[in-house]
Amino acid sequence: MPKAAKLVELAPALRHLIEKAARAREHAYAPYSHFQVGAAILTASGSIHVGCNVENGSYGATMCAERAAVAAAVSAGEREFAAIALVAASEHPPTPCGICRQVLAELSPAIEVVMANLAGDVLIASGNELLPSPFTLLR
Ligand code: THU
Repeated sequence: MPKAAKLVELAPALRHLIEKAARAREHAYAPYSHFQVGAAILTASGSIHVGCNVENGSYGATMCAERAAVAAAVSAGEREFAAIALVAASEHPPTPCGICRQVLAELSPAIEVVMANLAGDVLIASGNELLPSPFTLLR
């Protein structure tokens, strides 16, 4: 079960990650759903990379914020992730879609996933919790 928390109770490092995700969210391109999402991923080496959702008129080509952040981090040479924050202006904190869960599981199955809305409601879960037994070709 994801753990519920309030933004104000979190450690400064997690609040910082959420703040980065909230700022990235402001760049979201979401003219179809009007649902803007921002993500910030913390690497094992301590760097942070951000992403936002980028929608497309074909709908199927839409890129979620989480995968945009993973692509930015991997493009910078990173492969191991400690945590990812995602932020949306939803009533409840946004939870990652199945495709994003699978993508996170490929690189860091135990990643800490911190989900927040703009009201300061937070859910925290591990990648393993969000996607038990992910598909893999690597073992
Ligand atoms: N979206 C994300 O960016 N991340 C999620 O975890 C869920 C959904 C985006 C995709 C689409 O642009 C919009 O939110 C509505 O589904």
